[in-house]
Amino acid sequence: MTDKIYYNGNIIKREDAKVDIEDRGYQFADGVYEVVAFYQGEPFTLEEHMERLVFSAGEIDIETPSAETLIKEAKNYMQETGYADRNAKLYVQVSRGVASRSHAYPDGLEPVIIMKAGPLNPNPEEYFQEGVKIITLPDERWSRCYIKSIALLPNILAKKKAKQADAYEAVMSRDGFITEGSSSNIFIVEDDTIITPPATNYILNGITRQTVIDRLAPELGYEVIEESIPYYTLLKAEQVFLTGTTTEIMPVVQINDKVVGDGKVGAETKEIFKAFRELTGFVRGK
Ligand SMILES: Cc1ncc(COP(=O)(O)O)c(C=O)c1O
Repeated sequence: MTDKIYYNGNIIKREDAKVDIEDRGYQFADGVYEVVAFYQGEPFTLEEHMERLVFSAGEIDIETPSAETLIKEAKNYMQETGYADRNAKLYVQVSRGVASRSHAYPDGLEPVIIMKAGPLNPNPEEYFQEGVKIITLPDERWSRCYIKSIALLPNILAKKKAKQADAYEAVMSRDGFITEGSSSNIFIVEDDTIITPPATNYILNGITRQTVIDRLAPELGYEVIEESIPYYTLLKAEQVFLTGTTTEIMPVVQINDKVVGDGKVGAETKEIFKAFRELTGFVRGK
């Protein structure tokens, strides 16, 4: 649908956007990224995403333009695409830049910043109404998962295993405690209490996660407790849901072969999903 790409400050034709063979993002997965949802052309939490992008880049010693500049550039780019008033997904990537291949990067490289708009491709409505299955796997990632790095090998392998098991997501655990999904955060509801693992270095602090904690749960009169969740607590939780930019608020009704609660989407999960939809203003088919 879009034939335009943002490439280091310029908006160019898709066919003119080329990756240099010595781009460090291509050779080393040396870069960071964001995915932002636009609902009927309106960005959702764009500021938070761009601030996290600048933060992630800083954590790996890449200097980017300011979040304010990136926000302006992103809005301007989206206007130039066919998605100006539609539901869309914006992918933003910053790679360290182009240099002759060598593990240690030279100083002063110019980062390569690209943006690409695409359709939002929301999950089918029945997933939200009826819930989905997840599988569990060991967390085999590095210990700096709070950085939104483009190095996603463990995540893509985990997601593929989930698909092969007819599941929506793979939720990982480390040292007996659950961390997060391959591209989502996880919450459980137990005795009317909403619990999610704390935002340590072992998870990406999702912007949807933070939206639930700071906005949706308090507005609905719930408190969210951030504490480590043992793997076995997950297996006996009454309700489980996932959060993420494209995941939205996704109820989980099966973990591996085990049914969660009574197998139906629980009341708190339903309320949070409804509040999230109201906040984003999502209209299917736009
Ligand atoms: C590993 C991981 N955790 C959590 C999330 C959810 O983050 P957000 O809500 O900011 O999309 C993502 C999103 O891609 C992710 O890749």
